[in-house]
Amino acid sequence: MTEPLDKIHITVGNITQLSVDAIVNAANESLLGGGGVDNAIHIAAGPKLLEFNKTLGGCPTGLAKISPAFELERQGISHIIHTVGPVWHGDETASLANTHEDVLLASCYHQTLTIAQQHKIKTLAFPAISTGMYHFPKDRAAKIAFGHVLDFLTHHDYPHEVTFCCFNQEDAAVYQEIIDTRMQWMYNRKRICPA
Ligand code: APR
Repeated sequence: MTEPLDKIHITVGNITQLSVDAIVNAANESLLGGGGVDNAIHIAAGPKLLEFNKTLGGCPTGLAKISPAFELERQGISHIIHTVGPVWHGDETASLANTHEDVLLASCYHQTLTIAQQHKIKTLAFPAISTGMYHFPKDRAAKIAFGHVLDFLTHHDYPHEVTFCCFNQEDAAVYQEIIDTRMQWMYNRKRICPA
């Protein structure tokens, strides 16, 4: 039985170049493309993605919708899950999970993971949703992302593996620190409990 924490990975690079079953798009509510990772995915998947997404009727912030991967299928990606993160207007001093944006971002991860489970997607890669053009603080977003992914993997059989695909080393270090802290907590807990 694989420990949930062992199902979580971090990588640095372009999410469209990963060899996973599905990648997650940080989209906008139109689902018709934009900048950042949204643009990269639409370019890599080709024009059929835009044509398909026109049939989806958009997606409210905090929710997610699935599409085929079209030209990305040549590298083994079968689906794209489009989710719309919140724009950060919040108060960084507010405790975690206590802003409207925190709740919406958590919903993006939960809705995406639920769709992945329904489609029995084994390997899934997330970008750092909302941390680019939507200005969500990276550390805060990573804590929300990690917490919800770990909880979902603890209670569900799919996905089998989740990768956080960071666009640079600095962003990856944010996730790594969160995972290292969690591992240290688990180790200490095991040490304190009597054998
Ligand atoms: N692969 C992986 N990560 C990427 C890639 C890529 N090819 N391109 C950008 N990123 C990273 C960014 O560095 C950032 O950490 O994805 C994260 C999310 O940034 P954005 O793509 O700007 O997404 P977001 O902040 O959620 O804003 C969404 O921007 O692109 C438009 O249409 C999109 O309107 C929507 C808004």
